[in-house]
Amino acid sequence: MKTEIHQANPTSLRKAADLLLSGEVVAIPTETVYGLAANGLNSEAVKKVFLAKGRPSTDPLILHLTSRDLQVAIQSDILGKNTPHEAFDLASAFWPGPLTMVLPRGSRVPPVVTAGLDSVAVRYPAHPVTLELLSMIQVPLAAPSANRFGRISPTDAQAVLHELDGKVSLILDGGESATGVESTVVSLLPPEPAILRPGKITPEDIARVIGRTPYQQAQNLPRNQSMPSPGMLESHYAPQTPLYLAEAPLSPIHPDLRFIHYQTPKGSLHSNQFILSPEGDPESAARNLYRILRQADTGHGKAILIEPIPDSDLAPALRDRLQRASVGNARWDGANWILRRRNKT
Ligand code: TXA
Ligand code: MG
Repeated sequence: MKTEIHQANPTSLRKAADLLLSGEVVAIPTETVYGLAANGLNSEAVKKVFLAKGRPSTDPLILHLTSRDLQVAIQSDILGKNTPHEAFDLASAFWPGPLTMVLPRGSRVPPVVTAGLDSVAVRYPAHPVTLELLSMIQVPLAAPSANRFGRISPTDAQAVLHELDGKVSLILDGGESATGVESTVVSLLPPEPAILRPGKITPEDIARVIGRTPYQQAQNLPRNQSMPSPGMLESHYAPQTPLYLAEAPLSPIHPDLRFIHYQTPKGSLHSNQFILSPEGDPESAARNLYRILRQADTGHGKAILIEPIPDSDLAPALRDRLQRASVGNARWDGANWILRRRNKT
């Protein structure tokens, strides 16, 4: 299959809509990362998403809804009638935007979308191209991040091409994703609201709306433990060059290694040094994270080292992705970088 990138315009949107309605997959922009989309009510189409990504069928997908009004999703049997009232409050507060809610599944959602669960993850994304597409087709789009399973999520059309060349016929180019890390996933199922994946919308943001702080899952479950959310997998978002988390800000650089600084360091930069955010601003660090990981991953570095992420509202999301993308820790002992792999359980 030949993969084409098209700037989003009325012609390419019509083409994307036709492909989706005929059961094909299309890569779409969102404000968080690019998604690989299929008609979420068509099992055969959704299976193509799993196939293109090499994603295990036990890992459920997010449905991108055609309306921010949850009542519409309930009436069309995408969500259950027992959808909790907190979901309505969160939708009004944060949609369109980078919040995914896990809610009771309606009878029209095929089991392949939810990996057989009784719940379904839904969001209404804040990207004008994808909102236009959703309003044209009037079916929800099942869309995971448009990367091969376990790899770095794409935040622009070129990165999607790099990940899925030959596996999708159309990539709709809607520019660089503004947020740069995947949506916050919050479960509103009993017994209590719980954050399944940290993102730009924080537990405090959610608490302000629903009046209680969501439970935060223990991070980094080993692979074989039962999975509350497969985004909890220990290894994910990973570059091919092994990534190590430096225990202190990076200073001595070494030609065999690649270094990702949070902010521009003093002195002259070498070609094996990369910067997440020149000014050290969390929003731009999040926006640049995956692109910088991809850049550091090209060429022949033996390992990539990244500095600790300073505290901010976005720090939990960034640290979560880096923890999963990394294989261990790095420490400067005064003469050498000591790279230590984590034990996999
Ligand atoms: O920002 C995003 O959410 C992007 C864009 C494309 O919308 N999508 C995305 O999808 O990150 P994906 O498939 O890479 O991540 C979906 C996450 C996974 O951690 C999955 O386990 C969780 O949502 N999830 C989906 N359905 C679930 C369910 N019913 N219960 C618990 N977790 C669920
Ligand atoms: Mg993903």
